[in-house]
This record gives sequence, structure tokens and C-alpha cells, in this order.
Amino acid sequence: MGRVEELRDQTVWKSDPHTQVKHLVYRHYLQCWMAKILQTFPEATIVDAFSGPGVYSDGPAGSSIVVAKTFLEHTAHRRFGRLNLICLEERPDRVEELQRQFTELPQSPQLKVSIQPPGAFAEQQARLASLAHLGRPETPVLWLIDPFDLKSAPFTSIRQCLGGPRDEVLFTLFTNELHRFCQRDGFDKTMTGYFGGTHWQTAIAERRAGTRKEAFAAAYQQGLQDLGLFTGGFGIKISNQSARYHLILATHSEAGLKCWAPVTWKLDSYSGQGASADTADAPSLFDEASVVDRLDVALRAHAGTEQRWETLSSEAARLNHMDKHLRKVLDHLAAQGLAIRVDPVKARTAWPEGSTVRFYAPDDVADEAS
Ligand SMILES: C[S@@+](CC[C@H](N)C(=O)[O-])C[C@H]1O[C@@H](n2cnc3c(N)ncnc32)[C@H](O)[C@@H]1O
Repeated sequence: MGRVEELRDQTVWKSDPHTQVKHLVYRHYLQCWMAKILQTFPEATIVDAFSGPGVYSDGPAGSSIVVAKTFLEHTAHRRFGRLNLICLEERPDRVEELQRQFTELPQSPQLKVSIQPPGAFAEQQARLASLAHLGRPETPVLWLIDPFDLKSAPFTSIRQCLGGPRDEVLFTLFTNELHRFCQRDGFDKTMTGYFGGTHWQTAIAERRAGTRKEAFAAAYQQGLQDLGLFTGGFGIKISNQSARYHLILATHSEAGLKCWAPVTWKLDSYSGQGASADTADAPSLFDEASVVDRLDVALRAHAGTEQRWETLSSEAARLNHMDKHLRKVLDHLAAQGLAIRVDPVKARTAWPEGSTVRFYAPDDVADEAS
């Protein structure tokens, strides 16, 4: 049986390397999100809106079970507030299998699992949002949106998932399908619904598969940023092929980005932008040579000014870099005389939190005698 028939005809289907990498991203992100959110708020919710049956035919757990296990096995879980896990799946046979999978997990009074009757995401979104917020818009809600196709998660629904001030979305963007079908006759209506506008058309100018897929991911993120959101993106690929799909994070909070950047750098220690099954979690062979050019350019633009550590750290996060990258680039600039810590005068490390850094232009440090 082919893959398409398997997905259509069977209740459970076989896992693949892409799924494993996607679940690694989920697990790393959830570990950070849970530690931050569930130790700050008494209650929060995760909605797995395309949950599937909770298991693959060759053994690995499905996403809802991955979420529950990440919670139950978290080292800080005893200090956590309550997590509500709401699961939605369209097919009755998969809902039934998911219920069976949960009976095999240990119970915890802090984890409330609610498997919804079979239903379609776009139709159920408003009802799920009100369930998830527990009557308070400020309840943190993380939505996992992981469909099989372009039609079942239009941008209007994604936007509605981000209505509350602490709502976040982790979305599977079908960059491979976008690349293959974007120029088919009659497909532009689907594309526009998926992106919530015609800005996807800018990606068509890119001819190469890899760059076009990246351009689609950038366009999707732009649509979210235009709503005032912070975003991150990560390509899921096999070996050195271009990404099959991207995971896109949308969040109202810079703290969300600060959880996201370490995930992407952990899975791709060279650029933090995409991983394949064979490179995910590989030791950081490239750590010294990792791509920090964007951050280098951004910091050089501060020439002639003083900047507080917090501003620099936040700028780094928006460029999907961690504080360790910021320190590395500052070391590099300091070696050329282009950055100097002006406060505090004495410190145990070169770039402590709370410090102030003054930046210079190459002309400022040019040797006048030469
Ligand atoms: C990509 S699979 C989900 C895999 C799962 N999230 C995981 O990582 O283990 C998509 C699932 O969504 C279900 N589905 C398809 N259309 C749906 C819709 N409109 N609303 C909710 N579920 C849907 C499919 O039956 C399928 O089980």
C-alpha cells in the first residue's frame, strides 16, 4: 500500500524521519514552554488540533502522547500548575485509538486530558478557544496545528488562535506542496486563503526549490509579523534535500522566541534554520563556524551608540540567536575594537547581563598614522 492510501485508509500509519524531527522540535520547545509557563501561571492549555491517533504503526508515540509524556517526565513537573490538554481529530476511528493510547499513560492530578468528539478544526476553533481559555482571555494557550493539507487550516483560523494575549501557535507549513502547486491553474485561491493575502506571490520569483520554500516560510512569517507577532521558522528535511515542511512559531511574547532559538540551534548547530533526521541532535561540530552573520551586521549598525544588554539580547532573539551567540559576536567585535563594555567596569565575565556596551565604526579605530 502506498503512503497516500495508508494515510487515507488506515487508522494508524507508519512514522517517517520527518515526523521524528518534528516531534523532537515539539519536545524541546514544550520542555522550555512548560518550565516557563507552568511555573508562572496556575493553569495553561495546549490544544493539539490535528492530533491523529496518538501512535504510529511502527511504534512511536503521536503528538498528543508526546505532549503528555513531556509533561509527566519533566524534571520540574511537581512544581507545575495545571495543564489542560485538548485534543481534536476529525476521524472517529483515530479518536477512538487516541482514547485507547491515553489509557496506557499514568494519571496525574495536574494533567487534565480532554479528547473532543470527532470534528474539523476550522469549524471547532471558536469552541476550542473558549474551552482552552477557561473563561479568561489571558490564560496561556499553545496551539499545535499539524494538518495533512493546505485547506483545513486557513490563515483566518490561525489568526483566531492568536486572539488572547498569551496565545501561541506552532504550525506545520507545507512548503513542499506550496512550491509544487503554487503555479497550477486555479490554485491561487487556496494559496491566498492559506496565507491570508496575496503576499505568497513574492516567493514565485525564486526558481530554485530550496530558496522558494524558504521564501514561502518567510512570507508566511511576514503575514504574522504584520499582526504584531514574533515569529520563528524551522525547516524539516531529509539529509541535504530542501525542507519538506517548515514549523512556524507565532507568539506575542519575546519569551516565546527565547524558548524557540535554543531549540533550532540544538537541532541545527550550523544555522539554526533547519534539520534533517541525520543531523538533528548531532554534536555541535560546527559550533565555532555557526552562521551568526545577521547578528554581526545588526550589531555593527550600533556604531556610535551605547546599548544596554537587554536591548542587545532582545535584538538577538528576534534574529533567532541566543545570548551565547551574542557574546561570541561581541567577542569578535571587541577583538577589532568595535565594541567595548563600558559598564560595569569590573565583572567576572566579559558580557554580563545588565552591562552596557559602546559600539564603534571601523573608521573610529583606524590607525591615523598608517
Ligand atoms: C499530520 S496528521 C497529525 C499527526 C499528529 N499531529 C502527530 O504529530 O502525531 C493530521 C491528522 O489530522 C486529521 N485531520 C484531517 N483534517 C482535519 C481537520 N480538518 N480537523 C481535525 N483533524 C483533521 C487527520 O485525520 C490526521 O489524523
